This record gives sequence, structure tokens and C-alpha cells, in this order.
Amino acid sequence: RSSRCQSICLYPPKHHFCLFSMSCCAGIQEDEDVKKMLQGSSMVKVRSRHRQKHRTLRLLEDGVTIWCQSHKLKNRAKEQHTFSIMDVECVREGCQLETVRHKMGSESTKQGLTVVFKGPRKSLVLLCQSEEEAQQWVRGIRTLQERMDKMTHKEKLDQYPFPAYENHDDKMSYEEVQRLLRMINVDQSDQYARSLFQKCDRSADGRLDNKEIRVFCRELLRRPELDAIFNHHSADGFVLSTDDLRDFLKEQEEDCSVTHAQSLILTYELNEWAQKSHLMTPDGFNRYMLSKQNYVINPDHARVYQDMTQPLAHYFISSSHNTYLIKDQMTGDSSTEPYIRALNHGCRCVELDCWDGDGGEPVIYHGHTLTSRVPFVEVINTINENAFNASPFPLILSLENHCSVEQQAVMARHLRSILGEKLLQRPLSTEKSKCLPSPEDLKGKILVKGRREESAGECSSSSSDLNSSDDETSVAEGRSKKKKDLSPELSELVVYTRSVHFKGFDQAAKNSPYQMSSFSEREALKLIKDSGVLFVRHNSHKLSRIYPSGRRLQSSNYNPQQMWNAGCQIVALNFQTPGEQMDLNQGRFQQNGLCGYVLKPPFMCQPDSTFNPENVGGGPGHRPILLTIQVISAQQLPKPKREKPRSIVDPQVWVEIHGVPIDNNKQKTHYVKNNGLNPRWNCTFNFIVRVPDLALVRFMVEDHDYTSSNEFLGQYTLPFTSMQSGHRHVPLVKLDGSSLSPSTLFIHVKFSACLDVLFSSPGPKADRIN
Ligand SMILES: *[C@@H]1O[C@H](CO)[C@@H](O)[C@H](O)[C@H]1NC(C)=O
Ligand SMILES: *[C@@H]1O[C@H](CO)[C@@H](O)[C@H](O)[C@H]1NC(C)=O
Repeated sequence: RSSRCQSICLYPPKHHFCLFSMSCCAGIQEDEDVKKMLQGSSMVKVRSRHRQKHRTLRLLEDGVTIWCQSHKLKNRAKEQHTFSIMDVECVREGCQLETVRHKMGSESTKQGLTVVFKGPRKSLVLLCQSEEEAQQWVRGIRTLQERMDKMTHKEKLDQYPFPAYENHDDKMSYEEVQRLLRMINVDQSDQYARSLFQKCDRSADGRLDNKEIRVFCRELLRRPELDAIFNHHSADGFVLSTDDLRDFLKEQEEDCSVTHAQSLILTYELNEWAQKSHLMTPDGFNRYMLSKQNYVINPDHARVYQDMTQPLAHYFISSSHNTYLIKDQMTGDSSTEPYIRALNHGCRCVELDCWDGDGGEPVIYHGHTLTSRVPFVEVINTINENAFNASPFPLILSLENHCSVEQQAVMARHLRSILGEKLLQRPLSTEKSKCLPSPEDLKGKILVKGRREESAGECSSSSSDLNSSDDETSVAEGRSKKKKDLSPELSELVVYTRSVHFKGFDQAAKNSPYQMSSFSEREALKLIKDSGVLFVRHNSHKLSRIYPSGRRLQSSNYNPQQMWNAGCQIVALNFQTPGEQMDLNQGRFQQNGLCGYVLKPPFMCQPDSTFNPENVGGGPGHRPILLTIQVISAQQLPKPKREKPRSIVDPQVWVEIHGVPIDNNKQKTHYVKNNGLNPRWNCTFNFIVRVPDLALVRFMVEDHDYTSSNEFLGQYTLPFTSMQSGHRHVPLVKLDGSSLSPSTLFIHVKFSACLDVLFSSPGPKADRIN
């Protein structure tokens, strides 16, 4: 251990580069906005109309912690809340809380800012003394976030020492070290950290000096697996030459050109001497291995890389069900907040359940239940402000319309006046097209999906559909709906996404390509089972929306993979309910720049496709690959939530394939006792994946429990075709999909041709269609 540290430091001339090279707030302290934050501002924290409190907000010198200090002396002790920049999902100008807006009107809310947190924590709504001050805070927080994002966690650690704490003598007590660790998200077993602290405390005075802290941190984040790979490729055991690095890149099946190897050295090597000599030290190598570039997901797939000019029906579209609900559909409150979250996660189809409200203003909530209501106009305002935060491609508003004709007209007016140019009000071209426009054609547009009153010439089959209910309306309610129930103003706004009742594939084939149907999960599963090929063909040119069964009172989710296997595009899930199904959704849309549109594989996009999701022993899409995954180790796993006698993790890892039925498979490692810091498994699994273009790979880490069910710790899901081979890190995420950084898995991935399966496939004939 120490030999390696020495080996790096032996190199001249800048010893300090080998470990903690960057100073704390370097660069950002000159930023005017950050300066303002460091000085602090007096604000009003708004919870609701009646709950407003004066607070002083101040950024601590660590550059990540923000203190919210009470003005009342007696409250000081108990009410000094802090939050970390790392917990912030995003920050927005203005007060995004409907009750506040109502009270203050839009003028004064310009002095506001809204901090949205990762996970379930409630947003923080703050009013500043001026608009300028609010903007300074918004910009400042964003600056700090960007800086954080750019750093690997090793760099975060490298920032130390920082001058925040009481003692300025360069020595730290255990408590201070612990705080430092928490700041860089190293939240470990106290027991382990304390014993390590004592080991490093040579002077035995209960405090570590600079040198000892380095040893402590080094030891804490030690990565023998990376050292081993480094040593394997290093000719002299001290550094990687450009050629050594190229060897390694070749093994990773990556670009192994001299240019690429040298650019990696320039990017990740901080030792100036090594950099100049085109060499990579173990530190530089670790930095590279832990960087995003080296994650299991192909960095080229992190941006929009697919053809976006095909008809809408050729894409899977990230879709949310009952978007307005915070919790379950019986008691959960309705709010605009979930719209912001869904839109920020790349969701491209949100749902609005609209009912008549007081004073002629429609409201959104889950009908016939206890859920609270939110005005339609507020939701449309929120959508207008956030529609294209995460993706430039079209947003679909799925209207569940239960309103009277009068209030429908009000809806239409709000849609027009608030969304303005963004609202798609007429076809893009006057020519009649045989297919839907593309996401590229519809960039920046908001589409209304709902019923439409067809003019006489447009389509004969649709007049009968006016008889039918909206998608999820109960049968009884549907029957009472008549043609006259539809407001012409609202009907006009429905252009490419016209809801009609599904009356069989033959009937649908005669319909306009702009007509689409919704299916409950049960109806969809029955169609997949009875006539999967026909469903795939139908979905090659028509949109299908799937929604959860009405019996899911807890807003649980169904398995979206089964629906994607049949080419269904709008597979609506309860985004508010975390779990495996939402993990799959996040995984599916992890690629293509998180833009919410993912191109379906080509064998599903032809009107005469013979792809049968239920039976792919050969034929189109059948392209078996042997996937070999070695789960090597994990780093810094979170503590389990559940209180255990000794709250230390016994982690085990599942590797799962989700795809067509024959590809579904999962295997797990043994559990490692009492080690969440750096457990090691070395377990190797083989999977045969027959339809890789539809498959997702999910890594799930749980805490083994002897007495009750295992507890979820973190997971990561990605499309099979976006996986990189070689030694890779898997960045784990929480139940709600937010980052668990720096928790990672370290794995090795290998793809090989799968000969046995090729031999047993029915032969090349069926493949021609592909
Ligand atoms: C429309 O609904 C009425 C009343 O339920 C029913 O009698 C009629 O057959 C329906 N028409 C069509 C075309 O579905
Ligand atoms: C895993 O493999 C490495 C390298 O072969 C070995 O040093 C280590 O002891 C192994 N660990 C476990 C837990 O099997």
C-alpha cells in the first residue's frame, strides 16, 4: 500500500499533485453570485398561504452546504437546517407552489425561487428581497451544481483541506473528518472509519494532521481491483506508458489509437510531469476508471444518437399515468410538482384528469376519490414553463376529459392562451399524409390527445367513436356521453393524437393514422397473447397507449417490458410509485440523451412484420449473444434504512435480463457479510440473450437479511445495446431514480457469439424479413 503511494510521490517535481491537488473553492469564490451566497441573504420561507418564516440563508465555505438560519433567538438551536447542493435536483426562478402564486400574484413571485430536491423531500419555496437577489441565488446554486457535476468523487475528495471548521491548525478531529466524509458522500460504517482513524493517528492525540488525513482517505477509498489492473498493464509497475494504456483500451474494445490514449492522459492525469511525458500514474488511471466516460453505459448513447425523423409510431415514448398525483390514487394529493418531476425526467406524455370546478374553472384530480384538486390553469402554466427542460421533442398531453361543454371551452382557451406557439393547432402540412410526423418535425410542440369530432369528409368510421368514452372512463359514464358533449373548441386542438375506441385490428387498419387507442394492461396482455404479430404490425404505424388497471388502488405499476415487446409506444406508468417497473422505464430511456423517445428496433417498424413477442425461437430480431458478466466489487454502498442491531450491510447483487419472455432471467451473487464499503464477490454469470435489441440489463443490490425480506439498496438499469464491454463501473441509483453517487459496482462485461443457439435456430429463411 504505502509502496504505491511512495512510488507516485517519487516522481518529480510536484509531490502534492499525487494526492490532494486542488484547493477548495478554487475559482468559484470569485463568482459574484457565489460571493453573494457566502455573505448570506434574508428570505421568507413559504410553506403555504399561512406558514411563512423569516430565514437567513448562507452558503458555507465548503461550497456545498447551505444553512437556513432562524431569526428568532430561541429557535436558533433547534431550527438550523441545512441542505447540500448535492441533494438539489434543480432550482427555478419564481414560486412554483400554486397556493403561493394565488396569494401573491405573478408580480411578487418574481422575487422567489424554488429549490426542488432529489427524492421525496418537499420543495423549498423562498422569497427574496428583490428579483435581482433571487436570480443571484438561482444562478449561484446552478454554478455550484455544475461544478459538482464536473467532479469525480475522487476530485471532490481531492479538494480537501477546506477552511470551514473551527480549528485552523490543519488538524482534524474524528468528528471533523466524519463531516468531511459526509460532504463527499462517503457515509460509512462508523465502526470501520473510527478504527481506521485510530490506526492513522500516529501521534495518538485524537486528531489527524494533513499527512495522516491523506493516508486515512487513501486507505478508506482503496481499490485493490484497480491496482491489479494497473499492475497487469504497467510494464514498469509504476506508470502506464502510452502503449501500456493502448493495450488496456484494446482489451476494453475501445478506440486504442495513440491520439485517444494521449487525450485520456491529458484529461485524467494531474501529475504535470507524467502528463508531459505521456504517462499515466495509478491516480490518473483511477480517475479515468471512475469517470463517466468509463461507465458501463456507452457515452455515445448518452446524447441523442438515433434517427429522429421517423414517424412517431416508430418510437417508445416515456409516459406517465395520473401525473398529477403525489402518492396513490385514493388519498394522494394532486399538485403541479409531479408534472415538473416527470418532465425533468424526460417524460413525453403526461396525463390530465379534468373535471368541472368552481367558478367555471376546470380542475384536475382523480375523480370520485379523496385526492385534492389543482386548477387546470395552474397545471398548464407549469407545463408551459417546464415542457422542454429535458427534451426538445414533442410533449403529448393526454386529456381525460370529464368536463361539461362549457368548461371544455375554458380548457381550450387556457391551452391556446398559455401555450401559444408551442401548442400544435393544425397539421404541419396541408397534404394528407399516410403516416404520423416525426419527433424532429414536431420539435418544441405540445400535442393534445383526446376525442375529436371528425368533420364529415374526414373519416367515416369515427362518428361511431363519438359514442365511446374517454380512455379510462367507466363504462357507465361512457354510455351517458353523447356527441354534443364535446366542445368544438377543444376538439379542434386534437390533431395527430385522436382517441378512438379500439374495435379490432381490421377496423383500425381502415382508420386514419392520426387515430389511436388506449388499452388497459389486461386488454393489452390479451392482445399480445392472442395476436401478438398483429399487435406489432398495428403498432408499426399507429400509436397505442397502455394504462394500469383501475384496480391498482395503491398506484402500483405493471411490467412495461411486456408492452414494449409488442411495440406499444405510450406505456404509461405511475411515476410517483418507485420500484422495479419504474427502474425498467428509467433504463429504457437512459439512452438517446434522456430525451424520452427511443427508436424501436427495425424489425418492429414494418407494417408486415412477423415479429412475435411471445415466440422468438428464430425469425426477425433473433440474434443470440452470450453475455458474460463478472460482478467484481462494490464501492461505498448506502446504509440500509431499516434499523438492524449493527447497521452494517450484508450486500448481494442481482443481475437481471428483462426482454422477450425467453430472455427473462436473473442470477445473484452470494452475500458478503458486514461490508458496505468495499465488498468483493468475483462472481461470474452467463446469459444467452436472443433478442438483444429489446433487452434491458438491471443490476440490483440488496442487503441480505436473515429474518425478513432483503432490503433494496440501489440499482441501475440500461439497454443491452448501450452496454460497453470490459472493466466498467455501474453508477447506482436510489429507489426514486436519483443518484447514489459515489456508490458503484465494478464489473467486467464480455459479449460473445452464441454458437449453440445459432445452430438450433430455424435457419436463415425467417431472418430475411429483418
Ligand atoms: C352508442 O351508444 C348507444 C347507447 O349505449 C348504443 O345503443 C349504440 O349501439 C352505440 N352506437 C355505436 C355505434 O356504438
Ligand atoms: C477476487 O479475485 C482477486 C483476484 O483474483 C483476489 O485477489 C481476491 O481475493 C478475490 N476475492 C474474493 C472475495 O474472492
